[in-house]
Amino acid sequence: MKVMVIGSGGREHALCWKLAHSASVHEVVCAPGNPGIARLARCVDVSVTDMDGLLALASEEQPGLVVIGPEAPLVAGLADRLRERGIAVFGPGQQAAMLEGSKAFAKEIMQQAGVPTAAFEIHRELEAAEAAIRRMGAPIVVKASGLAAGKGVVVAEDEATALTAVREMLAGNRFGDAGAEVVIEECLRGEEASCLFIVSGETIIPLASSQDHKALLDGDQGPNTGGMGAYSPAPCVTPAVATQVLERIARPTIAALRQRGIEFIGTLYAGVMLCDDGPKTLEFNVRFGDPECQPLMMRLRSDLGMLLYDAATGRLKPQSLQWSDDVALCVVVASEGYPGDFEKGQRIGNLAAVEAAGTTVFHAGTVVRDGELRNNGGRVLGVTACAADVASCRAIVYQALDKLDWPGGFFRRDIGHRAVKTGVEQ
Ligand code: AMP
Ligand code: GLY
Repeated sequence: MKVMVIGSGGREHALCWKLAHSASVHEVVCAPGNPGIARLARCVDVSVTDMDGLLALASEEQPGLVVIGPEAPLVAGLADRLRERGIAVFGPGQQAAMLEGSKAFAKEIMQQAGVPTAAFEIHRELEAAEAAIRRMGAPIVVKASGLAAGKGVVVAEDEATALTAVREMLAGNRFGDAGAEVVIEECLRGEEASCLFIVSGETIIPLASSQDHKALLDGDQGPNTGGMGAYSPAPCVTPAVATQVLERIARPTIAALRQRGIEFIGTLYAGVMLCDDGPKTLEFNVRFGDPECQPLMMRLRSDLGMLLYDAATGRLKPQSLQWSDDVALCVVVASEGYPGDFEKGQRIGNLAAVEAAGTTVFHAGTVVRDGELRNNGGRVLGVTACAADVASCRAIVYQALDKLDWPGGFFRRDIGHRAVKTGVEQ
């Protein structure tokens, strides 16, 4: 079949890469794609926010399957509009996408379903929100309810930080409409993991575990980002933990949506904190994680095209997916300054040498201008490798990164640190 992928990030590059290697897929079209994706797929320059443009493109291309990568078009209802036109879509409709689009809605569903999560309050009025912070006390977490590209969460160690955050959101318009409602919640401690599921109706298939590094700087310091690196599998997700996340979090959440008449077709991403009394949900996403998708796709042995098509068309059967025994690890190279302001258009050189050193480089914020590859976004490259263990993966990726010629590129030096027990140096 012909598959159309919507998006332009590292996640979509990894999806296109895996789809292009799927026996079930003969052609991949991507809108809008990026220079890395263009090596595998036919890219068509339609933005992910151009709903009419995407619908027109789908009508013209008549793909056997559309895979929607990012959250924004899902929350905007693109999947519904495509389905109305009889096109098979992997990605939830607008109502189901509210699990990610509204943290307040996600909390309501979790409460209804008895899913373990941090104790919380939802507020729209500043005074009441400030009172809640004072009542609940620090440490405390303040979240913009709407979409904020992973940047709308403040984990405050003291009350003053939490109060500043809530004022910026409710009074200062910091995240626009996304911050007009806030979730204020208990601060959980523990190790985090990303647990993803392919969902179609009642069928829920776990993907391999992974772990993301959301903080900007080494040692998990600095502000939250969309994710600075990831690896799979995550040793902290033991088989027992994976079962708990499936049975106590994913299944009851999907069942609670179904009780409201909401069908979920797509990827359910549970960000969980492994607490002393079991895994608790930090957030839901309704798509593959970025950068978690990059190591996951490198390890997946099953035919991705068939899997997503079966999910999209109600044919998905409970099954165990096939995974490489290897570890895969992805280090994100970002533009210096991200998640704040940064300069675009800097030349990125020597990528061929980075790949020749044994990595697969997934593109995110890149563009070709004047015949040169240049940075065009915050997160720019995902340099990924597979090897027998995390230490070997790190060695391959970091040695390859020594060859990158981009002075304005920035990356963490400690991706995978929790999985490396022996303090291996890069
Ligand atoms: P979210 O987008 O909700 O996953 O939040 C982004 C990051 O903030 C998470 O990956 C955690 O590191 C942190 N975080 C979110 N909620 C909590 C919480 N209740 N307790 C501690 N840390 C949290
Ligand atoms: N890596 C975190 C996310 O995709 O939301």
